[in-house]
Amino acid sequence: MDIVEKLKGIIDKNLPDGWDASVDLSIRPEFGDYSAIINSTDSESVKNRFNVLNKIKEDIAKEKFYKENIKEIKVIPPAYINFFIKPEAIKEQIKIIIEEGDNFGKTDENKKRTIIIDYSSPNVAKPMHVGHLRSTFIGQVIYNLYKFLGYKVVGDNHLGDWGTQFGMIIAGYKKYTNNASELKNVTVSEMLDIYVRFNKEIENAPDMQETAKAEFKKLEQGDKENRKIWKILRETSLKEFNRIYDILGIKFDLIKGESDYEKELKYEIENALKTKKAIRNEDGSIIISLGEMTPFLIQKSDGATVYGTRDLATIRFRVEKYHPEKIIYVIGNGQSFYLEQLFKSAEILGYIDADKLYHVKFGLVLDENHKKMATREGKVVNAEELINKIIDLADEIIKNKNPKLSEKERKEAAKIIGIGALKYNDLSQNRHTDIVFDWNKMLSFDGNSAPYLLYTYVRLKSIMKKSKAGNFEPSFLKEEIELEIIKQLSIFPKIIERALEDYQLNILANYLFKLAGTVNNFYEKHPVLKAEKDIKFARLALIKSASIVLRNGLNLLGIETLEKM
Ligand code: ARG
Repeated sequence: MDIVEKLKGIIDKNLPDGWDASVDLSIRPEFGDYSAIINSTDSESVKNRFNVLNKIKEDIAKEKFYKENIKEIKVIPPAYINFFIKPEAIKEQIKIIIEEGDNFGKTDENKKRTIIIDYSSPNVAKPMHVGHLRSTFIGQVIYNLYKFLGYKVVGDNHLGDWGTQFGMIIAGYKKYTNNASELKNVTVSEMLDIYVRFNKEIENAPDMQETAKAEFKKLEQGDKENRKIWKILRETSLKEFNRIYDILGIKFDLIKGESDYEKELKYEIENALKTKKAIRNEDGSIIISLGEMTPFLIQKSDGATVYGTRDLATIRFRVEKYHPEKIIYVIGNGQSFYLEQLFKSAEILGYIDADKLYHVKFGLVLDENHKKMATREGKVVNAEELINKIIDLADEIIKNKNPKLSEKERKEAAKIIGIGALKYNDLSQNRHTDIVFDWNKMLSFDGNSAPYLLYTYVRLKSIMKKSKAGNFEPSFLKEEIELEIIKQLSIFPKIIERALEDYQLNILANYLFKLAGTVNNFYEKHPVLKAEKDIKFARLALIKSASIVLRNGLNLLGIETLEKM
């Protein structure tokens, strides 16, 4: 068990009911090595905090663990207990990290807990755009983190593959192309063009609206031709999406689209009416009243169901099948209000408590000029084109940096670096804000970027490759910065927990950035391979444990590492 875990354990053991503690690295040397912040949710007890802190301090001092590992404990009002640890105890950490390797920070304690994550979820017959990329990256990392902590996780790609817009697309096809077989060769971006063209024409020809509605009705009722067209739209889109997921290394446990719930929609409406949770308006539309909130529409006046009806059916399915502790929706800020309504409605219908439904929201993607990212013609930016472009740019950079790489090695590296850059740019920024898409910054080798982290990893590996590791004794690590690295490594498990607390994945990204900086500082100042044998082996072990944490952290962020670049 690592020292942070032990400290936490020993504090928890001595903590009165209703209190909790979290342990972190101390922010300044005079605050010791680690600090615990102690809190109570009860405002009356908090008044008594100083006594509680002192009592904990006394109790801990009686423990065997104290004598072995701790030099001194200081209570700092109003909430802190600072721990000054014996350096030997800190140094022992690298033994643990090396022993546990890839499992450092992993746990299987949460096996019985299930989390569903709804992410990516692009729309059929429209290209995937940068917003979906954000959802894809963030969702996949949350998935990885929960998995790492032993949860049962279900990743579900809730494709937008149903709804009245398909009436328009189908009507558009029938109008602009001659037969459905032609469709097979149509790209997703051409599908969008047809939809846009049809939408434009509707403005001057309102009867086209009716045509579209009629086509959707036919689709719903199982009309052969329309089903065939819809299937081609779906399959072609999915093929394109899968190509993107492949390059990005994204996986789902389920790809259940809105259309999968088609047969449930009738029940959804009838049940809501029958249980009196929904009412039918005079115009025929059906809504769920949400008290002070705007009511939730589940059927339009023309009888068509909506996105929300399908989301309700989806919740019912997920709850019945998986009994999740939480369902997480990784969707942009734009749908915040909609999701509040959805969560409340699901609770009113008795499907699940609203507080088990969680919206992990995120901002827009902006270009270098801080405008919403768009093509020159003002259209949304196609995700696949963006991915190809960043890989090409990475390829150019590596060509210049390391001309000795074979073409195969370079291509491989360009893919890892380009995609890493794309993901890291997203994940290292606060997800609540809009993020800026700055190609140069993303691909820079010396800022807070994936190439910088990957390069640090490559350098660690190359040092390791140049010498055989031998038996090491941590006590030979005598430099302040060596101790600092070990302390940073020791909180990796805590960082993971903290990143998951409110899904602030930038906590993990920025932790890795800081760690890389410290490690770079270390080996620039202190020789490893040229050091005296005992020191060399200890430093090699230190480098190895840093490489383990760096790789693990990057992998959790969905970023592959490489050995050469
Ligand atoms: N397809 C939707 C969109 O692109 C996102 C779906 C998100 N998931 C959900 N269960 N509503 O806006």
